[in-house]
Amino acid sequence: LALPVVDAALRERLVRGMLTVEERLEAEIRSEADFITEACRHLLHAGGKRFRPMLVLLAAEAGEGINEDVLTAASVVELTHLASLYHDDVMDEADLRRGADSANVRWDNHVAILAGDWLFSKSSELTARLGAEAVRIQAETFSRLVEGQILETREPRPGEDLLDHYLRVVGGKTGSLIATSARYGAMFSGCPPEVVAALTGYGERVGTAFQLSDDILDLGSDSDVSGKTPGTDLREGVPTLPTLMALRSTDPADARLRELLSAPLTDDARHAEALALMRAHPAMGEARRYVLQLANSAIDLLTVVPEGPVKQALVDFAGVIATRTA
Ligand code: FPP
Ligand code: MG
Ligand code: MG
Repeated sequence: LALPVVDAALRERLVRGMLTVEERLEAEIRSEADFITEACRHLLHAGGKRFRPMLVLLAAEAGEGINEDVLTAASVVELTHLASLYHDDVMDEADLRRGADSANVRWDNHVAILAGDWLFSKSSELTARLGAEAVRIQAETFSRLVEGQILETREPRPGEDLLDHYLRVVGGKTGSLIATSARYGAMFSGCPPEVVAALTGYGERVGTAFQLSDDILDLGSDSDVSGKTPGTDLREGVPTLPTLMALRSTDPADARLRELLSAPLTDDARHAEALALMRAHPAMGEARRYVLQLANSAIDLLTVVPEGPVKQALVDFAGVIATRTA
């Protein structure tokens, strides 16, 4: 269980719940077309931290606990996430995901796109079992995922701060689905509206912190730890929290870095140089501090959650995300 849960009984319930979710995911991705099953199994089996379904279950523990709808919702969010990864790796031309060849490399873009579409259709089918409100939330989440993803490819609006633009991107592409994970868990376990709202906000902030720490890891860690190729965002010219913070600097010593970061880094030597400069830059520390603050602001929303092991786990979860190394 990739969650810091101290309470043994709670831990046991979450582990049991996650085993059920895992079985269901396995069953859901089975298609009559064998090749679809193979293509979808590829990334499902490659690994993944299962943070989203885990957050569904944990949020449900803040209410009356894990039930059938909660388990369905947990599968929904993981399938949606998995779908988005197939598509994301096409858009990012990424070659490594979860330590395995990305689907676009293992097969080709067509397979990766269609596997993603198919997974999203399965996720939608499951959502229908949860009722109209869940379908509406799923649709809203999907729009935000797409908006975040497309905003990432656009310039900020005239006069808009680069960092604000970036945070809108991250809120859309990652905060939205993690917010929905916490929301589904809370709403399908009978939490009162103020707790549902608080956990939704908590998920949004924790999710944003999660993606921002991903950005830091993209620069800071090696592929044996992260399961991805280091500096991929840098190579594609995708702005990230550390690069945006570094670019704010007016220090003449940063002139070379600014020049390197002004365009995608297709040249290996320039890429390696920029990666080394970024890794040594104070913006890395600044970015880490920002993520920590955001995680703390997520914890601040938990005042309406009763004291106890579940609240403690939510607090610890935010802490782990802010300081994660993989
Ligand atoms: C990863 O970001 C990308 C996402 C978290 C969201 C991707 C969203 C879509 C493709 C749109 C929705 C599509 C479907 C089918 C639901 P990243 O590229 O910064 O992170 P990475 O390092 O993990 O690749
Ligand atoms: Mg990507
Ligand atoms: Mg991407």
